[in-house]
Amino acid sequence: HKATMSSLPSVFVTRPDVDNSGLELLRKSCNVTSWSQTIPVPRDELLRQVKGKDALYCALTDKIDADVLDAAGAQLKCVATISVGFEHIDVQECKKRGIRVGYTPDVLTDATAELTLALLLATNRRLFEANKQVYNGGWKSWAPMWMCGQGLKNSRVGLYGFGRIGQEIAARILPFKPSQITYTTRTARPAEAAKVNAQLVDFDEMLCLSDFIVVCCSLTPDTKEIFNASAFKKMKPNCIFINTARGGVVDQNALYDALLSKRILAAGLDVTTPEPLPLDDPLLKLENIVILPHIGSADIETRKEMSRITARNILAALNGCQMEAEVI
Ligand code: DGY
Repeated sequence: HKATMSSLPSVFVTRPDVDNSGLELLRKSCNVTSWSQTIPVPRDELLRQVKGKDALYCALTDKIDADVLDAAGAQLKCVATISVGFEHIDVQECKKRGIRVGYTPDVLTDATAELTLALLLATNRRLFEANKQVYNGGWKSWAPMWMCGQGLKNSRVGLYGFGRIGQEIAARILPFKPSQITYTTRTARPAEAAKVNAQLVDFDEMLCLSDFIVVCCSLTPDTKEIFNASAFKKMKPNCIFINTARGGVVDQNALYDALLSKRILAAGLDVTTPEPLPLDDPLLKLENIVILPHIGSADIETRKEMSRITARNILAALNGCQMEAEVI
């Protein structure tokens, strides 16, 4: 029995709480060990646990760099993350060593677009601010101009990023009757844009003319802190800034200043730097912001399928087959 056990490939899972349906797939043909606490696996523990493993099942809370790959050893064949974002993985370094990298695009597109709309509506119609008034006595009477927000109708919405998620966000915004949807990306996507009647505009035009700016790009060296003080300065005073991509695309101090000085109207964030946001972070003192704890893809069926895709990616890589979604 021992011999069979040790001849199976071994996988280290960095989260104890991934859905079991994925882990069961792995357990059929691998030795699976996992980190046991809900906090992210500490660095030294990750370096210890990854040693000798054939595959690593990780999440965006784990930094997978050359040191982790060194600690694992030359037999490591695959790093699979239960996320569509993979900026936490040094993909170049993996490639160099012939380690295949798996991720989970597509499956979470709808859930993330849905959450983006929820955040957009919660922010522009001031849901959390208004909800507080129900409990704190601020609700005295119906009043004509009380708790008014800024509707999407007849507004100009600028999407920064127009990949799978951006396109689905645009499709969901369309029924709210905006005056215009624009998108800003390096490459034009005329066919996809035509479906949602979106126009390509450059970064400056988007900043200067949008009533809503929705960030849905990936975090890369090009997009890192692209929303800085100079970007916020160009925005309209009624602009509402939504980010469901990565906290790293925003200079958060500049965003704080823009919100405090009412340079822009409001912000809705599902992602921050760092995560979790410390309880004494100045952003938490502002009225004109809604912050969520990175729950974009947190839909039960979505997360279950993300767990299974991550497992299937690992099994495919271990068997030398085509992975369901490989970073190439
Ligand atoms: C991702 O997949 O990159 C999200 O941020 C978490 O689902």
